[in-house]
Amino acid sequence: MTNGPLPVARTVAELRAVVAGWRAAGERVAMIPTMGALHAGHLSLIALGRQKADRTVASIFVNPAQFAPHEDFDAYPRGEAEDAAKLADAGCDLLFAPGAREMYPDGFATTVNVATGVSEPLEGVSRPHFFGGVATVVAKLLIQCGPDVAIFGEKDYQQLLVIRRMARDLDLPVEVVGGPTTREADGLALSSRNAYLTAEERKAATALPAAMRYAVAALRDGGEAADVEGAVRASLIGAGFRQIDYVEIRDGATLARLGPGPVSPGARVFVAAWLGKTRLIDNWAV
Ligand code: PAF
Repeated sequence: MTNGPLPVARTVAELRAVVAGWRAAGERVAMIPTMGALHAGHLSLIALGRQKADRTVASIFVNPAQFAPHEDFDAYPRGEAEDAAKLADAGCDLLFAPGAREMYPDGFATTVNVATGVSEPLEGVSRPHFFGGVATVVAKLLIQCGPDVAIFGEKDYQQLLVIRRMARDLDLPVEVVGGPTTREADGLALSSRNAYLTAEERKAATALPAAMRYAVAALRDGGEAADVEGAVRASLIGAGFRQIDYVEIRDGATLARLGPGPVSPGARVFVAAWLGKTRLIDNWAV
């Protein structure tokens, strides 16, 4: 089913005018920030937004501030027309697709940093620039739109915790909600970056969900975190992953390291690893 062309706002003023109209009619608003290259995982977040609010706004902005110079900003997949058609089919009400000048005008000088805690380990070590860029752009998007609810995928679980902390610390009047990860039949988490995988790498990538499944089962059976982390590393290297950024079992609320002994409820397994030129991340609740 096609719901017809999707209205697109390019400026903050246009976005605010549409949202003000909804608010005047007493409607609740959900925002789903994205970087485009939309897949079924993103569309499940739109569906969640439609359950939680009367109106949904998706944003598409490939945010230069969250990519380091050596990363894939230029190569990141872009296709607004295709994305807009998917959003219309999913029943989204508005696309906010600002240009770089609208988001970062000349003289832009402010950054938002979640300085300690959930931003420090894992991605905070591997990609030190990342959460500053994410927190800055998401703070801007939420201030620009003023939604009641903002929805982010649990695939980027640490990002979700960082955004929740940021919204709480800055008193943004928004409920930050996580949407469950959408997976392929073999368990590989959907990601826009999966498009970089060659056919052979895609086959090898199945080792990642297999290792996660093993880790969860072993931990539930009383396995020691350090042993399980070692076994996951070994199985990924054995399957052809060329570099492991991290395999760590941490508390799912605080991201604190766990002590020795059986893992406590709420633990989560976090992995980031490279298959050829593609960096895959995933996390599973124990
Ligand atoms: O998860 C993403 O796609 C991005 O990090 C986000 C939250 C849209 C910020 O640019």
